[in-house]
This record gives sequence, structure tokens and C-alpha cells, in this order.
Amino acid sequence: MKIRNILPLILLFWSSNGEIISLLTGTAIAISGGAFWAFKKHLKCRLYECCEEPDIKFDHHRLDSDIANMLYGQHLVKDVVVNSIKSHWFNDNPRKPLVLSFHGYTGSGKNFVAEIIANNTFRLGLRSSFVQHIVATVDYPDKTKIHDYQIELRQRILSTAQKCGRAMFIFDETDKLPEQLLGSIKPFLDYYTTVSNVDFRRNIFIFLSNKGGGKIAEITLNQYENEYPREELKLESFERDLMSFSFNEKGGLQMSELISNHLIDHFIPFLPLQREHVRKCVEAYLRKRGRNDLVSNVELVERVLNSLQYFPPDSKAFSSSGCKRVDAKADLELAKIRPIASYRQFDDEL
Ligand SMILES: *[C@@H]1O[C@H](CO)[C@@H](O)[C@H](O)[C@H]1NC(C)=O
Repeated sequence: MKIRNILPLILLFWSSNGEIISLLTGTAIAISGGAFWAFKKHLKCRLYECCEEPDIKFDHHRLDSDIANMLYGQHLVKDVVVNSIKSHWFNDNPRKPLVLSFHGYTGSGKNFVAEIIANNTFRLGLRSSFVQHIVATVDYPDKTKIHDYQIELRQRILSTAQKCGRAMFIFDETDKLPEQLLGSIKPFLDYYTTVSNVDFRRNIFIFLSNKGGGKIAEITLNQYENEYPREELKLESFERDLMSFSFNEKGGLQMSELISNHLIDHFIPFLPLQREHVRKCVEAYLRKRGRNDLVSNVELVERVLNSLQYFPPDSKAFSSSGCKRVDAKADLELAKIRPIASYRQFDDEL
């Protein structure tokens, strides 16, 4: 509040009664109190992360363009991801948290998309304390400690959601997460107004798994062999398979519980990448390394592409590791060529 705004008020009171002193004191206390509070909050949010703007700001335009520009060969991902998050985020009264399940082989971009979502929601991206990235084999490796893990995971989820109603939970390698752990997550995903007094309805849960990757590859390969464009593949072609796949899987009991209770909002298939998609990853990596000059170097790019594995053996239609090993392979090739500086030197000497 500005002094300017309350000055007329003070003058009014001054003329009407003699209580100006007490009024002024009161006002001063009110102003400084409010200002102090605001200042303290400002300071706190400068030092730590706060559960509000600018630390949390969902930019759906950038999410949309980031996915369009940085993710290759995944036409099914963009629409579902952007629209589902958008409608959940702007819904004043969501009935449950948003739960997305990403399926596909490694290197197809599941983690990458999760990171893009985090980057466009939290100022600190994956480093935000409101984002929990849970990697089954790293965080919960010991099968004999399941009971401790259950308590720990529950506490981890609760305390994060308590700090921020907009928290995001990414479960990596969900297929390797012990059944009982997946079971203890279930209440958080459900249609409850609160769980242990914490409201989960604005949270986002993302499950990443390789499960279904084989089926997705099969469908995509079929399309490829029949020479239909993969962009014509529809979400519906995969969804039923992914659902029934998770159902029938050995030890897939908890996952099928989530499915049969309709707690998973969307199953999103990540298709295996063709050579041309991996090529885009190589080019993007070269640009990232500041070597735009090498992007048009067909021989170098081909060498990187040839150093990767492809399947199935006869058609070699898809990359076995998607874009995952591209950086390392490109680094090897980069190490073999002379840096730009020595080219120049050489030219100068001529
Ligand atoms: C996310 O943000 C971090 C930090 O700004 C950046 O290093 C990273 O490349 C971004 N990731 C993606 C996928 O855009």
C-alpha cells in the first residue's frame, strides 16, 4: 500500500476528529507489518523455491513448441501430453491428479518429454524440490526392504505434495518397481479429496516404462512394412494393447488395479525411431556442441548413424537404442576430427 493512497484518508480523519495520533500509529503498524511480511516472503522466495509464480509457471505454448521442435518421430505424444496437462492445469476443480503412462523402448524420448514438461512448469525444472524423480532400481533396489520402502515412498510423496499442490512425480522404470510399492502409490492417484489431509488433485504423476515396447514396435513395424506412413497411426491402435498388456503381465496386478479403477488417464506410446529420426538427434547434438558447420557433413553424420544398432535384422527399420547413445557416438566422431581452430590456422599458413 502506498502512502499516497491513504493520505487523503488521514486528512479526512484529522479534520473530523482528534484521533490522528492513534490512527497514524495504527496505520504505520499496519503498513510496516504488511510490508515486512511481504518482504519476508519475497526474501524467502528469492532464497528458496516457492509454490507460486515465478517458480511455478506452466507455459503451454512453450511446452507445445518444445515438444514439436525437440522430439522426433513421436506424432502421438504431443497432442495428448500438451492437451491433457493443459486441461488439468486450468481446471479449477479437478477430481483427481493427472496420471500419464508413457510406454516404449529406451531412447524413444520418455524421459526427455518428462523433462520438457518439468522445464515448462517449474523454473528449476527437474531440480525443483516440487518434482520427485523416482527411479525404481536406484531408489528402491533391495527387495528385502519393501516395507521400509513403502513407508519412505509414501512419506516422500506426502511431504512433497504438502509443500506444493502442484507437485510432479515421475516414476522411471515403473516396470521394475516392486508390486507393493506401486500398490502404496494407488491412494494418491484416486478420486479422493484428500489423502492424509493432503490434497492431491492438482498433482501430476507420470509413469515411464519399457513395457509394451515390443507391442508398439510390432504395430509400428507392421505399418512400416505395409508402407503406410507412421503418422497415420492413431492412439486407439495402441491403447487397447497397452492396457491389456499391462493387465496380463506377470506381476502386473497392481498396474491392472490402477487400470481397472480408471486411475490412469492416458496411455501414451513412444514409437521406435527410424534412422531419419535418429539423424535429427545427431544434428541437434552437433548444434548443441556448437558445431553447426558439421550438420551438413553427410559422411560424419552417416558414420555416427552406422555406429548404432538397428532392428529387425532384415529391414533394420528401427534404432535399437533410439536416440540414447547418439551423444556418445557423436563425441567419438568429433574427437577424431580436428577442431575448428586448427583448420583456420592451417588455412592461414597456406
Ligand atoms: C531443461 O532445462 C535445463 C536447465 O535450464 C536444461 O539444461 C535442459 O537442457 C532442459 N531440457 C530440455 C529437454 O529442454
